[in-house]
Amino acid sequence: MSDFGKTIAAAYAAEGASIGVGKGVLDGKVVSEADIRLPLRSANRHGLIAGATGTGKTRTLQLLAEQLSEQGVPVFAADVKGDLSGIAAPGDASGPAGKRAAELGEKFEPTGFPAEYLSLGGIGPGVPIRATVSDFGPQLLAKVLEANDTQEQSLALVFRYADTKGLPLLDLSDLRALLTFLESDAGKAELSGIGGVASQTIGVLLRSLAGLEDGGGNELFGEPQFDVNDLLRTASDGRGVISCLELPAVQDKPKLFSTALMWLLAELFEALPEVGDLEKPKLVFFFDEAHLLFDEATEAFRESVIQTVRLIRSKGVGVFFITQAPKDIHEDVLAQLGNRVQHALRAFTPDDEKALRATVRTFPKSEYYKLEELLPALGTGEAVVTILSEGGVPTPVVHTKMQAPRSRMGAANDIAAASAQSPLASKYATRIDSQSARELLAARLETAPDEKQQPVKEAHRDAAKATRGGTDALGDFLNSRQGKTLQKEVVRGVFGLLRKRL
Ligand SMILES: Nc1ncnc2c1ncn2[C@@H]1O[C@H](COP(=O)(O)OP(=O)(O)O)[C@@H](O)[C@H]1O
Ligand SMILES: [Mg+2]
Repeated sequence: MSDFGKTIAAAYAAEGASIGVGKGVLDGKVVSEADIRLPLRSANRHGLIAGATGTGKTRTLQLLAEQLSEQGVPVFAADVKGDLSGIAAPGDASGPAGKRAAELGEKFEPTGFPAEYLSLGGIGPGVPIRATVSDFGPQLLAKVLEANDTQEQSLALVFRYADTKGLPLLDLSDLRALLTFLESDAGKAELSGIGGVASQTIGVLLRSLAGLEDGGGNELFGEPQFDVNDLLRTASDGRGVISCLELPAVQDKPKLFSTALMWLLAELFEALPEVGDLEKPKLVFFFDEAHLLFDEATEAFRESVIQTVRLIRSKGVGVFFITQAPKDIHEDVLAQLGNRVQHALRAFTPDDEKALRATVRTFPKSEYYKLEELLPALGTGEAVVTILSEGGVPTPVVHTKMQAPRSRMGAANDIAAASAQSPLASKYATRIDSQSARELLAARLETAPDEKQQPVKEAHRDAAKATRGGTDALGDFLNSRQGKTLQKEVVRGVFGLLRKRL
């Protein structure tokens, strides 16, 4: 065995369960002893899959997802282009995957995996994921509205107002009704009571809300809200279910889908108990187009992302970000990504060169490779890899020929048909149109036009009565609500999400 083969095999060896990544390459040749494996224990130490378009990022995701599933680990993956959906079908032995297996000296066994297809609010095929505005919270909503710091803080105060008044904000029309009320003459006194929120800011928020309503928000927000525990399923054969969030239909709404992904992650964080280091993760979450999270983000938002990524590890969730270059990810997040698969980077323009040098600096020094020359020269489905070993030590950087996925590399035949069969369909397919804050606020505004403050005060009294079990209209409304009723003391966690009581 060569020194290289020995060193690499030893560095990547795992005593516990592990998943195959590929084989080391030196001087252009596959070194079969240099077996590159990711220990299952390390899979919740987060990761980054990076590289230019067409270099193999999605296939790497697919490869990892398949083997996690096989080891009983449920997977969530954002499927931005729809080309991951074929994961349920066996791959094609006569295509590039079969060829790759031969190059690595492995037998190719076409295999399909248990998949679930989800969509954002039913835009495109897949079981619809919805969130209530109340649960989504002010910070994520501010991000999708492209709000600045002031607007973000104002929105947080408006949410707090709604929380303390017991006003459930289910969909965007509820939020619109509340903001419209606060901007109206009748709502002026209420607004000044909130403190620190300018009427003008409410106006700005209302205008940006219009864009969100037309841009997929009407579909995404509402009930029934998606329960993230449904991402933690295993199939009857013990394999982890791979939940693919199908995003092709919202590809042109990057703000919407990236915030929705962050909401799912934050929900997981709020919903799951602390578990410390596990033998294998409870869930691995693949976050595609991760650069969108940091584009034009406020400082507060960035902090929430950093905090969530840091703390979700101890809840047994591993997060793999997928993007073009490491510089797309905030350095405080990047520093937490112990597992790195870097596919080829282009080096055409001076900007490319700069990004390349910056990428090289994020890797440990290599005794085998000149990364600045290697990274632009990597072939499709090849990558520069370093991971955290079982003992938590960064492994040496290796030029890796990645294994091929065993499932189909491409789109599924019929996602709509598959999701209609899903056990989740009966739970989520149909939208519930609950009576909500919108109607409540409309009623307030309609009564007693010349005593504008009066109806609001009455409503508050009613709300107080309702929480004591009163039988008036507002009480009926609050008590009859499906699912959650907002009560007096609402606690909000990270991103201002409603905190789940365990
Ligand atoms: N591990 C692999 N084994 C075999 N072929 C691969 C592998 N990775 C990538 N390819 C080939 O490269 C193509 C592009 O890869 P893809 O993952 O879609 O790129 P990206 O997501 O970076 O745009 C695939 O369709 C496939 O033909
Ligand atoms: Mg891709």
